[in-house]
Amino acid sequence: MFNRSAMRNLEDFELPRIVRLNDGLFGASFFLMKLLPARFMLERGVEHGFLKPGGTICESSSGTLGLALAMLAVQYGYKLVLVSDWSLDRHLHKRLVELGTHIEIVDEAGPGGRGIQQRRLDRLAEYLKEIPDSFWPAQYSNNDNPLAYGKFAEMLVERVGKIDCLIGPVGSGGSMCGTTKFLRAIFPELHAISVDTPNSILFGQPAGKVMVSGLGGGIVPFNVDHRQFDEVHWLTPAEMFQGTHRLHQGHGLFMGPTSGAAYKVADWWSRTNPGKNVVAIFPDEGHRYVESVYDENWLSSVPGWPTSIRDEPMMIETPAMELTGWSSYRWCRRTLAEVRSGLKDQSCASNSKRECTSAFSSDEGRGAALKALTHFDATTVAHLELDPEQEEFVDPPAVVFEKLRNSPSSVEHAFLVVVREQVVGFFVLCEKAALPAWAPPSAITLHNLRIGRSYQGNGYGKLATRLAAQWILESRPSISRIMVAVDVRNIAARQLCLSSGFQGTGAVDCGRVSPHNILSIQLAER
Ligand SMILES: Cc1ncc(COP(=O)(O)O)c(C=O)c1O
Repeated sequence: MFNRSAMRNLEDFELPRIVRLNDGLFGASFFLMKLLPARFMLERGVEHGFLKPGGTICESSSGTLGLALAMLAVQYGYKLVLVSDWSLDRHLHKRLVELGTHIEIVDEAGPGGRGIQQRRLDRLAEYLKEIPDSFWPAQYSNNDNPLAYGKFAEMLVERVGKIDCLIGPVGSGGSMCGTTKFLRAIFPELHAISVDTPNSILFGQPAGKVMVSGLGGGIVPFNVDHRQFDEVHWLTPAEMFQGTHRLHQGHGLFMGPTSGAAYKVADWWSRTNPGKNVVAIFPDEGHRYVESVYDENWLSSVPGWPTSIRDEPMMIETPAMELTGWSSYRWCRRTLAEVRSGLKDQSCASNSKRECTSAFSSDEGRGAALKALTHFDATTVAHLELDPEQEEFVDPPAVVFEKLRNSPSSVEHAFLVVVREQVVGFFVLCEKAALPAWAPPSAITLHNLRIGRSYQGNGYGKLATRLAAQWILESRPSISRIMVAVDVRNIAARQLCLSSGFQGTGAVDCGRVSPHNILSIQLAER
């Protein structure tokens, strides 16, 4: 009998082999990396009741996620519809058909330069509307994609020990952002490097044709959390393919071109930072590319092959410039908007990377940051106790975690408040479908704010509110208000809110036990 909510039959294929390439350089060599997030997203879809027995999985993919979904679909009796494009090679196409997948190839970019990825998503939306019981794993926006990589991060720590630098290709953002977030819980100084390609808009290049599949793209996925990255490198296809051959010829690893790209950057970083432990992510094997990257005739048609290939990156001033070869940029854990506006470029160039993340000029805010809180973090917040008279007014952490487990992660965002590497509290922000009835759609609401008893009296409640407002300003530019409901009997919370800049709106909500005042902060004029 199948256990449909624990789809572990292919589990042995999920994790990579860890290969030592030189003293401090390790390759995490996956058979098919996407099996890990695919299985996790499907399992969670079943748990939430979105994916029903015999239902249809619909996704946009040009390769590896599609194959992973197809393998899981046959194991567990689901149908699969894939919307893909030119980059789906004929062998994979045949294999997917053999696995019973319905494939539609979208062949032209849409009107107004909307790009082929957007066209794929538009077509996918039509399938989702037409097919009853259809489920969209949504790798670009589903928080379960990055979350799936907790298991990989755990394995890396077990096998490598201290990790100083993680390098990998970025497509949906799931693997690099997820793994980095998990690793930073243990190694806060971890240096994260994204590998992209010219003409991909993910890290600020002007849009153009991207000649490789798997990394980069014409839309910026929600799962690309730019603030995770210290450095970004762009490699031309010829440079990636050279890295792929070097990985094969020098180490015997027969991998795909995005692995070659990660290897080229990781090998350089490891040589220029001796004594550091570096892990490079290699997402898939080379078999798919036998007739392309591993074929000399095909390679000879690639622009720049084999003469225009850099052996080290050229440091660039701005990601928006035209790139003719391997280039690198100090991203310094900034948002895309900050990089585009040139914000804090100076501090980035001269200061350590951690200072770049601090959004505050006051001393109080220095060393403070938000980190994502997931329902796996119960032990991380176990020390945040409150006095009994405060507990009365807030949900116990177990209830918060239960809600997090059951709510779509795209509309509820839970954060740890971290001050000088210590977790001092947490809160949850809600938007769109998760908004309470008293909040207008233009607002984001603040809930479950908890600052541990032993950390109170240091201004951390105020700090948490400011960090929440900062997150909204950076991540939700269309939102104009942050709102909160405070139990009329909770004098301390009311004072905290007022001293943080909230003002009464005059509205009252009846609340579960007693009435709540609705307070609001108007964010900067939009
Ligand atoms: C071959 C290959 N490499 C790298 C990536 C990028 O991984 P992620 O989507 O986790 O950013 C993908 C994503 O599809 C891929 O197929």
